[in-house]
Amino acid sequence: MNVLILGGGGREHAMAWKISQSSNCDQLYLAPGNAGTETVGRNLDGIGSDFEMIKKAVLDNNIDLVIVGPEAPLVDGIVDFFLGDKDLQDVNILGPDKKAAQLEGSKSFAKSFMEKYEIPTAQYLEVGPSNLEEGYAFLDKMKPPYVLKADGLAAGKGVLILDDIAEARKELGLMLKGKFGDASEKVVIEEFLDGIEFSVFALVDGKDFIILPEAKDYKRIGEGDTGLNTGGMGSVSPVPFYDSVLKEKVQSQIIEPTVKGIIEEKMLYRGFIFFGLINVDGEPKVIEYNCRMGDPETQSVFVRLENDLLEVCDKASRGELEGMESRFSPDTVCTIVAVSGGYPGGYEKGKKIDGLDNIEELVFHAGTKRSGEEIQTNGGRVLAVTAKGKTIDEARNSALREIEKIKFEGINYRRDIGVDLL
Ligand code: AMP
Ligand code: GLY
Repeated sequence: MNVLILGGGGREHAMAWKISQSSNCDQLYLAPGNAGTETVGRNLDGIGSDFEMIKKAVLDNNIDLVIVGPEAPLVDGIVDFFLGDKDLQDVNILGPDKKAAQLEGSKSFAKSFMEKYEIPTAQYLEVGPSNLEEGYAFLDKMKPPYVLKADGLAAGKGVLILDDIAEARKELGLMLKGKFGDASEKVVIEEFLDGIEFSVFALVDGKDFIILPEAKDYKRIGEGDTGLNTGGMGSVSPVPFYDSVLKEKVQSQIIEPTVKGIIEEKMLYRGFIFFGLINVDGEPKVIEYNCRMGDPETQSVFVRLENDLLEVCDKASRGELEGMESRFSPDTVCTIVAVSGGYPGGYEKGKKIDGLDNIEELVFHAGTKRSGEEIQTNGGRVLAVTAKGKTIDEARNSALREIEKIKFEGINYRRDIGVDLL
């Protein structure tokens, strides 16, 4: 089978690494990929996000299966484009259709879906220009902190958590006036949930699903979960507090009703669902849905996964997951992300990366590029080291030992990934 993975982050490198191990994988392509994915597949340059260009690459390279890594093409309707194009009828694509991708693309869509299917989540109110006064009244009724969310995709920056009611009222007005562009034409005000966040993943084929290993993501730039939010500075899987009781609740109260809702709403969902959850005194609640895998959770999750990833992705894309089960290693996996100096603020690119040749654990590239013989930085999150161990400490120590060998100007990473779980 010839496979094309869309995307070029650490998530896509981890997917490509795992897919390339399948005996069914003939040619593996990535668009655009990065300097790391060259070692497991072939990078296709110059395709960008244009669906016609992607179609041409698919036909030119006899692709059988397209796996969509990031959310943007899904929210833009790439699956609908493939299903509606008669030249692409023999090509399978893994990802939800445009309507289903609204579970990530629109917070208000996701909230009303959860309300309808009685999926536990924070109380909320959807606010637009026509009910701003109702929005203020809702805020006045709530206890701080106040959670304001831009309805649409806002590059991970669209959520404000504010302690002060006056500031919350002011920000609500600013958001509706375009603080996040079109993304905040509508705003969701939410009850603040106090607990520990974790991520659960499922692969769905439209009706049946397999549940993948869970993970915890570390979003803040600084150790001890301080400083600005980032795309994710590290991850750990499994999550020790995710015991059989919590697992059963997540499956019966969240995953099963979500898939039931998807079927009843006649959405076509063949792809990964990422449940961003919070454990509030033993009760799991949904903070957000994402219509894709997480980054850097994927790196830890796929290292534990023992299934043939290509087989399950192919079956999911055909609606044939019935009877399949996921299998995963009981080991702990820790991923530590190295970022450019200054990230998540401004940072420079093009720094030479040294030390990659003698790393004894897995390295998943994200923002890297090749320039002649050199591998250089090409983004905020540059690469990650992923290591396995019997315990969190063992996995983290191995990842740290190896990441210390990697050098580039301004390199920064957290040394405390997983420490809070000990
Ligand atoms: P989201 O984009 O919805 O995942 O929100 C980004 C981050 O804001 C989440 O990962 C949480 O840390 C935090 N957050 C979002 N909603 C809530 C909530 N209702 N209560 C507490 N924290 C929240
Ligand atoms: N690690 C969080 C995300 O992928 O959205």
